[in-house]
Amino acid sequence: MSDTANPSSRAFTAESEHAEIGKASLSAGPETSAVKAPATPPHASPESAPPPAVRFDWRPWALGRVVWALGSVLVLECVVFGLSVLPAALFWTLFFERDYPNRPVAIVVLSMAFVPTYVIFAFALMVLSAWSTGVTGWRTPRDAELPIAGLSWPLLNWARYMISVHVVRLFAGAVFRATPIWTFYLRLNGAHLGKGVYVNSLAVNDHNMLEFDDYVVIGDDVHLSGHTVERGYVKTATVRLGRNVTIGLGSVVGIGVQAGPGCQVGALSLVPKFARLEAGTTYVGTPVRRLERKRDPSPV
Ligand SMILES: CC(C)(COP(=O)(O)OP(=O)(O)OC[C@H]1O[C@@H](n2cnc3c(N)ncnc32)[C@H](O)[C@@H]1OP(=O)(O)O)[C@@H](O)C(=O)NCCC(=O)NCCS
Repeated sequence: MSDTANPSSRAFTAESEHAEIGKASLSAGPETSAVKAPATPPHASPESAPPPAVRFDWRPWALGRVVWALGSVLVLECVVFGLSVLPAALFWTLFFERDYPNRPVAIVVLSMAFVPTYVIFAFALMVLSAWSTGVTGWRTPRDAELPIAGLSWPLLNWARYMISVHVVRLFAGAVFRATPIWTFYLRLNGAHLGKGVYVNSLAVNDHNMLEFDDYVVIGDDVHLSGHTVERGYVKTATVRLGRNVTIGLGSVVGIGVQAGPGCQVGALSLVPKFARLEAGTTYVGTPVRRLERKRDPSPV
């Protein structure tokens, strides 16, 4: 895979990666090592002072922006949804227009057709939704810190992207998650994913902020996204996972996290924002600690 197609390979293929990511780990006792975030995340102020409070912008043009943003996403979703339903609607129209030899045959055909028509609808919804967000340019802004009260265009574009993703998650996610088709949708919707990536969670957001190398596995119910909301601000940062990384069931991965190749995160763990996880290492706990293997106390 080329570097352009898969930016995560840029981040994790060099040997220097191990050294670089490992620098952030601190020794914290005989069995575990704490994980430390870089001193200054990209958009944090050097003193880590909380960002200033922003008052809601009630001016007419700000409210106009909100109305336009919500109205446009509603119209687009109606079009996308309508086009996705079209093949199924066509089938059902033809179905009801036909004459069947008897009632039981009609009932059997009706029952059998439900699942395939829904699958076709769900697939069309994924493709058209991803295509529409690509055309409109609705994406999560990179390394941003946006006051919610400011109601700015980048914030509203992010909200529209989230709404589109949510509609797909609701109607197609349950059918396709953890399959290559779900990976195909994530990629189409802006994610940079290598080959053999499986995402078995519907709580993976901000797809254009995800850079996963080959064979990454995201377990069931993992919460992983490129944004967080803190003190009235939406903050964003890219999550980069190296080749063969596994994120265990039910874990939470913060924004800006980077994990080196072969890194494993145990089930029900919390990886704090901007943490750097060392290659080939297992991390567990809340927040995560490096899992050190116990030595056999009585070697033979
Ligand atoms: C973390 C994990 C990879 C470790 O597996 P392992 O290397 O075989 O290690 P072990 O199971 O032998 O456990 C080693 C120690 O870590 C502890 N441990 C294991 N998983 C843990 C977790 N999720 N949280 C906290 N501690 C954990 C064990 O209790 C054990 O402690 P001990 O040495 O004091 O007895 C595995 O337990 C795990 O959580 N896998 C997640 C798999 C997953 O969800 N995949 C997603 C797709 S299904």
